[in-house]
Amino acid sequence: MVYITDDPLILKNIVMKDISDINVVDVHLTARSYKIYIGCNLNEQIADFIADYYGDKSLFILCDTSVEELYARPLTEALRAKGVNAPHIYSVPSGEQSKSVHIYADCLSWLVQEGAKRDSLIIAVGGGVIGDLAGFVAASYMRGIDFIQVPTTLLAQVESSVGGKTAINIPEGKNLVGAFYQPKAVFCDSAVLKTLPMRELRAGYAEIYKYGLLWDSAFMAWLEDGHAEALLKHDLHAVHYAVKRCCEIKAEIVSQDEREGGVRALLNLGHTFGHALEALCSYDDRLRHGEAVAIGMCLAARFSAKLGYLSSADVEIIEAHIRRVGLPSQYADIPDAPEITVDDMMKVMAKDKKADAKGINFVVMQALGRTKVTSSYAADDLHNVLHEFLN
Ligand SMILES: NC(=O)c1ccc[n+]([C@@H]2O[C@H](COP(=O)([O-])OP(=O)(O)OC[C@H]3O[C@@H](n4cnc5c(N)ncnc54)[C@H](O)[C@@H]3O)[C@@H](O)[C@H]2O)c1
Repeated sequence: MVYITDDPLILKNIVMKDISDINVVDVHLTARSYKIYIGCNLNEQIADFIADYYGDKSLFILCDTSVEELYARPLTEALRAKGVNAPHIYSVPSGEQSKSVHIYADCLSWLVQEGAKRDSLIIAVGGGVIGDLAGFVAASYMRGIDFIQVPTTLLAQVESSVGGKTAINIPEGKNLVGAFYQPKAVFCDSAVLKTLPMRELRAGYAEIYKYGLLWDSAFMAWLEDGHAEALLKHDLHAVHYAVKRCCEIKAEIVSQDEREGGVRALLNLGHTFGHALEALCSYDDRLRHGEAVAIGMCLAARFSAKLGYLSSADVEIIEAHIRRVGLPSQYADIPDAPEITVDDMMKVMAKDKKADAKGINFVVMQALGRTKVTSSYAADDLHNVLHEFLN
């Protein structure tokens, strides 16, 4: 087989191992273009990439306490073996609370103390929390330094590490402060998913199913056809194909609309409802982000049916699949769910970042695998869907 490429990492892989072991997805964004590498046990490849592009620069790993020993230290060893400078490591507590102004400021102070320069590299090793935090640190430190993403949750591999949205939370709201800032590369290593708790794996799966629903009915059918269960059991073929297909779809969408002026909004399928539920559950352990998205997609399906787009059989296909993989599909599935009313939901959704002068925008399904954003619907229809959902 002949490989035509000028990518140094790929050229190395041709020598080191068969290229088919690594899938590569391109994110086309002119000068900000980058590649997503998908495979198993990628430390060697990550170290090669860093040695090639940042071998003589100072390196800074940002991670959380759950993954420091598991993944940040082994990556350090792989870099040491290449003769590259050992990276400095900063580990923050696991969980959403680390996306705070306080921890963000700590990260910046640490970079200054350790002598990070404008040509230094930040390596984000962790889930979506670390990717969002490290990305915003990279975007703002000295007006922007390079960073790469090594996502360690399924959710981060298929969603948050790709596309350049970075953010931290402030007391007034989640992700209210941030920047669009693209990484220089993303490495999705399926091996790291083995240590991920099943609940986190399922939460990530919700985002995978979302890509099928919003963009690709063939991919949705593939997931329905037993591959969802296979990937939740760590079948590598299923994991790699699913992560690759999601990254391809996200790359295509982001390449068309980096700053969410149009088509990128489709990625918010289920999110307007989901974010409201997360907020009403105080972003605590009752509801992971992906679980909220799973319930949000069921609500979006019911709303789409109410608006005359989906049939009730379509809604049942979606809800049955979400239940089958062990994700929550209705309000009663949330443990210790707070007593809330339709008005409570409406108030939170009205504050959604996607709301505009015309009202709350929703992503609705016109058919399975085809979506659009709409703000034209009867308030009664929305009210009725929420009423049925909460009662
Ligand atoms: N930037 C974006 O486009 C985007 C998109 C979606 C979500 N997000 C953000 O992503 C965050 C959620 O991400 P998440 O679900 O990955 O949560 P997370 O980063 O909190 O990770 C979930 C948990 O898994 C642990 N963990 C991570 N990798 C592990 C591994 N391999 N083995 C064992 N434990 C591991 C973490 O320590 C944490 O306790 C939210 O803050 C959300 O706002 C961002």
